[in-house]
Amino acid sequence: RMVKMYMACRNDIHRYDATFIAIYKSLIPAEEELEKQRQLMAHLENLVAKEWPHAKLYLYGSCANSFGFPKSDIDVCLAIEGDDINKSEMLLKLAEILESDNLQNVQALTRARVPIVKLMDPVTGISCDICINNVLAVVNTKLLRDYAQIDVRLRQLAFIVKHWAKSRRVNETYQGTLSSYAYVLMCIHFLQQRRPPILPCLQEMEPTYSVRVDNIRCTYFDNVDRLRNFGSNNRETIAELVWGFFNYWAYAHDYAYNVVSVRTGSILGKREKDWTRRVGNDRHLICIEDPFETSHDLGRVVDKFSIRVLREEFERAARIMHQDPNPCAKLLEPY
Ligand code: GTP
Ligand code: MG
Repeated sequence: RMVKMYMACRNDIHRYDATFIAIYKSLIPAEEELEKQRQLMAHLENLVAKEWPHAKLYLYGSCANSFGFPKSDIDVCLAIEGDDINKSEMLLKLAEILESDNLQNVQALTRARVPIVKLMDPVTGISCDICINNVLAVVNTKLLRDYAQIDVRLRQLAFIVKHWAKSRRVNETYQGTLSSYAYVLMCIHFLQQRRPPILPCLQEMEPTYSVRVDNIRCTYFDNVDRLRNFGSNNRETIAELVWGFFNYWAYAHDYAYNVVSVRTGSILGKREKDWTRRVGNDRHLICIEDPFETSHDLGRVVDKFSIRVLREEFERAARIMHQDPNPCAKLLEPY
């Protein structure tokens, strides 16, 4: 009888598609905002070129990976070649240049894990962090953006998941929960695993893009225009996918043994990665492999307390998707 009831509740899951799509659309940044970002970038490029003519500026993170919310700060990477780069000195010099150009709240944080200069541009109102030579972040930003071009359902799912994570306060790495970057990778992996798949595994295809960053070769198929129909044999809609995503992380993922890997489009074992025991602060209680820095587990920030918080939130979300009469609002209700 329970089974019947449950089927009766949710063979109407499509009723919620329109609401999820409306939420997704309300979260996409407006074109004016992107235009302001470009304006600030052009301005910064100008300033930087005067001092370092060979340097390049790249946007990275959510302002460039197509998973950004409106009114976000922008992340910029200054890339410059040379073995004798002193990042602290450069950041201090950069801060000086920015300050004399009337940019506001300029602050060089040279001792941070990723050293940056912060600034606020009074013309566009945009805040910005600039780091030096964090080229892997630029490359993984491109990977995410390329995946987003293949099937719109990735963007839809990831916006809902990010919105959920922010509302439920499980998007706070300093509190042991996951970064936005980790959530987007979880979404990509989930869509690679659907049958038929909604996303391919770009890193397993014939490479058309290849860069070497430090000692890591980053290669994958980036001719994504050719993959626009890739997922068309799978007709699942956003409400089903949201449901499936939370169901997977609530009940189907094997936290004791498994690692999700976008790089291979599959599930790997913790054993083959040697992620079975705690090393230093890395506990590997939920394992998400970085697509390029393969020794890097994006779940490493999660500890024995926050793993419970996370799993309870996944279960709450799955339960709501199974049976709540108003799942869209309830799912995203602030904590
Ligand atoms: P929001 O600011 O929450 O909207 O998302 P975001 O996409 O900017 O994500 P986040 O601040 O988590 O990450 C910024 C960028 O840093 C990512 O897009 C990656 O390119 C890069 N990055 C690389 N490694 C890591 C990592 O281990 N953790 C995080 N957080 N970011 C990483
Ligand atoms: Mg960010």
